Amino acid sequence: MGQPLPTAWLNDHFLPLAEARISPLDRGFLFGDGVYEVIPVYDGRPFRLEAHLDRLDYSLDEIRIRNPLSRPDWRRVLGELVERNGGGDQSLYLQVTRGADEGRDHGFPDPSVPATRFAMTSPLKPMPNRIREQGASVLLLPDERWARCDIKAITLLANVLARQTAREMGADEAVLERDGQLMEGSSTTLYALFGETVVTAPRDHRILPGITREVVLDLVRAAGLDIREAHLPCGELAAADECWLSSSSRELIPVTRVHLADGASHAVGPVDDSGRSRPGPVWARLAGELHELARNAQA
Ligand code: PDD
Repeated sequence: MGQPLPTAWLNDHFLPLAEARISPLDRGFLFGDGVYEVIPVYDGRPFRLEAHLDRLDYSLDEIRIRNPLSRPDWRRVLGELVERNGGGDQSLYLQVTRGADEGRDHGFPDPSVPATRFAMTSPLKPMPNRIREQGASVLLLPDERWARCDIKAITLLANVLARQTAREMGADEAVLERDGQLMEGSSTTLYALFGETVVTAPRDHRILPGITREVVLDLVRAAGLDIREAHLPCGELAAADECWLSSSSRELIPVTRVHLADGASHAVGPVDDSGRSRPGPVWARLAGELHELARNAQA
């Protein structure tokens, strides 16, 4: 017997994901006119659900879509979806678009149409051993995204192209740079440790305010380290004692190699006796604490 088909939720109905259908006139399909969230689920419990739903409210407000569900309804629907998919560890995806109009017009539908509401889950993958033991590699690329990266918009073409370029160059993630300064990864928050200070980009329109970022920064403070919210000049990353990336689906990832667009590359962080880069001790501590916190958090 194969795996049971995953259940999705579309416009207030639960159904097998493989049977979910939307109109080709949906503005998410035609214009990328919508927003989304990715929420990690541990042991059947969504981690930092309220913070994700707050950010959903923010994204919807910024693109002027009225939230189609009340907070209790989101909690109920997402909880039931997780349960129908067997609980355990999952990655919960939800998306809201401006809905399907009768034709294609850049301006909002008038009168307005119901927003399209969709959610699904997929397995939450543990960190690959290669990355845990040797660290990940990143490729520095120009940030070609729009000027409102604080909105979690489904319009992700620049992120998609950056990630694919990184993959083709043998790197795990793209790190995006504007005017010589590092912003974030294509789908991750970036941190660099210098001595006792963790540097990460400030919350403004140029980065997504990561939910994991807030949790990591709390752990950084609790560990007695300082935080400097600043844009790191690209050239300074090489001198970092450690470098990390975080996201809801990947927790805290150590970075040990940086590729530059001209094909050059350099190590970042500690080096072992045989000259190989290794994830650092501060990463090991914080990643362990983050994992424990997420796994043991109450809903
Ligand atoms: N990405 N920066 C960008 C551009 C992101 O897309 C993400 C998340 C993050 C980290 O945010 P959080 O800690 O809230 O997951 C930072 C999700 C996981 C995605 O697109 O799949």
